[in-house]
Amino acid sequence: MKPTFYPGVLALLLAGCAQPQPGSLKDALKNKFYIGTALSVAQFTGADTLSERVARENFSAVAPENCMKSMYLQPREGEFFFDEADRFVAWGEANSMWITGHCLVWHSQAPQWLCVDENGNNVSSEVLAARLKSHITAVASRYRGRIKGWDVVNEAILDDGSWRRSKLYEILGEELIPLAFQYAHEADPNAELYYNDYSMALEAKRNAAVQLVKTLKERGLRIDAVGMQGHIGMDYPAVEEFEKSLLAFAEAGVKVMVTELDLTVLPSPQPDVGAAVEATFGYQKELNPYADGLPDSVATAWTSRMADFFRLFLKHRDKITRVTLWGVCDDDSWRNNWPVPGRTDYALLFDRSGNAKPVVNEIIGQASR
Ligand code: G3I
Repeated sequence: MKPTFYPGVLALLLAGCAQPQPGSLKDALKNKFYIGTALSVAQFTGADTLSERVARENFSAVAPENCMKSMYLQPREGEFFFDEADRFVAWGEANSMWITGHCLVWHSQAPQWLCVDENGNNVSSEVLAARLKSHITAVASRYRGRIKGWDVVNEAILDDGSWRRSKLYEILGEELIPLAFQYAHEADPNAELYYNDYSMALEAKRNAAVQLVKTLKERGLRIDAVGMQGHIGMDYPAVEEFEKSLLAFAEAGVKVMVTELDLTVLPSPQPDVGAAVEATFGYQKELNPYADGLPDSVATAWTSRMADFFRLFLKHRDKITRVTLWGVCDDDSWRNNWPVPGRTDYALLFDRSGNAKPVVNEIIGQASR
């Protein structure tokens, strides 16, 4: 006997499900580059099953959005907290993902004790080097052979091409970066190693990053790729400038990874804000124009710009090994809370119900041509 279907019940069931996908993004891009996403703790621990499913079905690579930052992994000197990072790596393996570690050295989200002694004074360069070595060794060796590549140093160059004057830099100077790469390589000789930064399409930053790659290579240190974060807006950067950087990094002898892609549609309180987490502004209603939905004209412009970037990535697929979105569905994105908290943004490839946006179909089409 056939089961009886009640239309009302069926409608309710369908309303609770995401719309059918147009095809798998990861399958379409299989021979081009890894297509990745960043995962929050909720997504790999079972609290957010919708985004977990979208991530599993559509992406071939993962990065931890927060749980591998040093303030979470080693909140107090010598006390490591690996529970979430372990679960993240296990999730990636269970779903056959290319797993990237993010990040070994970053001035932000570092534990307070890292650069100072018990009186709050800066430690010596020897002490800081030893602390960095111990952190990097503990973390990278724990996941040896499982995490395929590491963002070794994150955001050490300012937009004008100078070194960021962080506490880490104040104490160690330019040796900070070579030392971090050396320690990471010693901890896991087979892992790929990356330098990762935002606003990499800016000429001064591009030149500084190229110089950094050359310096590391001249010193015989391993660096496999430069990560171009890709926190972009509707009017920055120009696709051509992004392309110039991509070509400059490839020319310097490394692969390129687009590591943290998201495209905001929201007005910015300042021009080309990149992704400096410290730059925040107060909420104003006029800065949150699409709280009730995105007008078709804006959605179409968003689709077209995101498609332009993927066209560029596919054109240079011989140089690009991974493109990673910084989040799964729109409501997961940090863009909803930066640089202005509490807004409604539409920055990612999947909407708030887990449906693929029209651009996904476009990317799949581009990849098949
Ligand atoms: O975990 C705490 C929670 O206990 C607390 O109640 C809550 C209250 O604010 O904060 C939670 O921590 C937040 C954390 O994300 C985890 O959700 C922090 O406030 C928040 O600042 C943090 O933001 C992250 C940001 O890096 C700073 O670490 C974003 O989610 C994350 O997307 C963002 O990612 C960075 C990349 O690592 C590097 N490149 C730029 C990119 C965007 O800023």
